[in-house]
This record gives sequence, C-alpha cells and structure tokens, in this order.
Amino acid sequence: MKPQILFTRKEIEVALGRLAAEIKRDYECKNPLVIGILKGSFVFMADLIRRLDFPLEVEFIKLSSYGRGMESTGKIKVVQGLSCPVKGRDVLVVEDIVDTGHTITFLMDYLQRKKPASLRLCVLTDKPSRREVPVTIDYLGFSIPNKFIVGYGIDWDEKFRHLPDLCFLEEESKS
Ligand code: PRP
Repeated sequence: MKPQILFTRKEIEVALGRLAAEIKRDYECKNPLVIGILKGSFVFMADLIRRLDFPLEVEFIKLSSYGRGMESTGKIKVVQGLSCPVKGRDVLVVEDIVDTGHTITFLMDYLQRKKPASLRLCVLTDKPSRREVPVTIDYLGFSIPNKFIVGYGIDWDEKFRHLPDLCFLEEESKS
C-alpha cells in the first residue's frame, strides 16, 4: 500500500489559517477548553493551537476504537479521560476525521452530559458519503471522497501518522 498525496502540507496550512481565523472570531475572549481526540488529532491539534493567539487550555481524551466495519457502536468507551472539569466551559473538540460519525456522536453526547457552557466541533477531514449518524461540524478543513486517508496524524494499522501531507492509500499494481 503506497500513500499518494491528497492534500499537500501547503494546502493544509491554508486550511489551518482559515480555521484559526474562524475559531478566533468565536472564542477570542472565552478561554476555551480545546479537547483533542487521541491519537489521530495530535498533529492537527498541535498546528491549530499554535495559530490561536489568545488564551485557551488544551486537553486530550482517548476513546476505544471499535474497528472499521463493525456494526456495533456500543463498544466505544473513554479509555483516557479528561483531567479538568468541563462544566461551564466553552469546549471545542478537535478531531482528525469523521467517517460513520459514531465516534464523535459518542463523544459529543459524553461531553454534553458534563454541562459545558458551549460545545462545538472542529474537524480536519469529513467523509460525508460514509455517514451513518448525522453530525454537525462547526469548523471543517476538508470534505473528502471515500478513500482510506493516512498521514498528518492519521494511521493505517498505526503506520503513516508521521507523513506531513494528507495522503490516501492506493494498492500497488501487482503486474
Ligand atoms: C478514527 C478517527 C475518528 C474515528 C472516526 O479513530 O480518529 O476518531 O476513527 O470514525 P467514525 O466516524 O466511523 O466513528 P481510530 O479509531 O482509528 O483511532 P485513532 O484516532 O487512535 O487512530
């Protein structure tokens, strides 16, 4: 499986600039709690927050992966929780990819029950053609086709997270 570039690091930088401007407009005076979902969001999160030149706090949360193609969504769990309260905070969730929508739906419900002052979602890549449950994305980097995405924090079998561009996997020709 050989990664091909879908969006270059330059195109990612342009998207980051646009997202940061939108987020600054909405959160500049709110000291938001910015929550990244491990592991996939860590590169996006690191680049995004360095463009947010106003006070904010950073947290991470890790959810169990239920595995691609499985029907059951009952297996999503928090495996590494937050270390600060969410109640009354303006919370911005940062996610690398929304596919079926089950993971982010679980997390947004989980956070909403903790009674934040507000709760919004920033997503780097969205695959709308794969959606199984509706998701509202407040800040979106790229809408992408139904390809297997890797790079810029996103893995295939824990590989390729370190690639600086957003890539997709294409099977190598067997001829
Ligand atoms: C990926 C991605 C999302 C989720 C999206 O995480 O980071 O959290 O899948 O899929 P869904 O919309 O179909 O629920 P993964 O489980 O691969 O874990 P990782 O972030 O640690 O790579």
